[in-house]
Amino acid sequence: MRTCGFSLLLALAFLALHHGVCHGGQLKKIFYLKSCPRAETIVRNITWSRVAANPALPAKLLRLQYHDCFVRGCDASVLLDSTNGTSAEKDAIPNRSLEGFDVIDEIKAKLEVECPLTVSCADILALAARDAVSFQFGRAMWGVLSGRRDGRVSLASEALDNLPSPASDFNTLKQQFADNGLNIPDLVALSGAHTIGVAHCVVFTRRLFNFTGNNDSDPSLDPGYAATLKAQCSSPRNTVAMDCNSSSSFDSHYFVALSQNQGLFTSDATLLTDKHAANFARFYQKFNVFLAQFGHSMKKMGAIAVLTNNEGEIRKNCRAVN
Ligand code: HEM
Repeated sequence: MRTCGFSLLLALAFLALHHGVCHGGQLKKIFYLKSCPRAETIVRNITWSRVAANPALPAKLLRLQYHDCFVRGCDASVLLDSTNGTSAEKDAIPNRSLEGFDVIDEIKAKLEVECPLTVSCADILALAARDAVSFQFGRAMWGVLSGRRDGRVSLASEALDNLPSPASDFNTLKQQFADNGLNIPDLVALSGAHTIGVAHCVVFTRRLFNFTGNNDSDPSLDPGYAATLKAQCSSPRNTVAMDCNSSSSFDSHYFVALSQNQGLFTSDATLLTDKHAANFARFYQKFNVFLAQFGHSMKKMGAIAVLTNNEGEIRKNCRAVN
């Protein structure tokens, strides 16, 4: 019976991997082969040495790429600083906890010496996020196509409008991902990024202390886990591990925790409320299955509304338009 169920899920995963909106057709494998042959090696070397010194970095860079791609596509708009009179994406409330900008700056500076005005900040971000997560494994965990160009616009209001809230219900998430060409298996697998990193208590504190306005906790949260989180969240500024006991390892433990009602945000827990999504969440408890879908979904996410060919520009400095 168990084997039957597993085969069905395998078939479902196969379908999920091979069915989905395609975009970013202009991106290429080893795009910089001729124009900057050492580009990918430089990105990897700097990223790996920074991760070796700071194990929290993979989560920062992975989240940075997601926040870039969901707002105006993967055009490095999240890296631009605010200018006189314009508040940029990075200053929108959900982005104020982003980190890792300095790593992108270091890589960009080195690449500007190696091959000036050639490698886009958007590509650097996509490669560095992949490499940071891959450090733990010593090899690239998914393929990254390149050839993205950098945008010239970054607006805080667009980040607020387009980034899903951690309080979102399933249908809202499904719609926001669909708006970006991402389907339910993508939504579930990409949520698995919460297998690494930390969250500030303020983000989910309502689930612990005041769910319906009666000093109660969200009943969909495991009571023991809720008690642990309450103790950790004595101040809203505290941070907690997103994947309890396993948040520095990129693995499939997020889905095990989810199945035990230990998803940290409403947006995590809600994945179990849809039959289709819950099936994928169960399936991704197997690391190899999760990894195959995660790599596929990252490729799709990394291709959202990309600028290519003569669109946009190759920034000299990732924090400012040329
Ligand atoms: C499904 C919708 C999602 C929502 C509502 C969401 C929301 C959040 C929130 C509120 C935080 C905590 C930030 C903080 O308190 O500092 C967080 C952290 C994080 N998110 Fe998501 N997220 C979503 C999807 C994703 C995706 C698709 C990725 C990447 C592919 C991702 C990667 C991360 C990572 C790695 C962290 C930890 C960051 C750190 O350690 O600083 N998230 N997310």
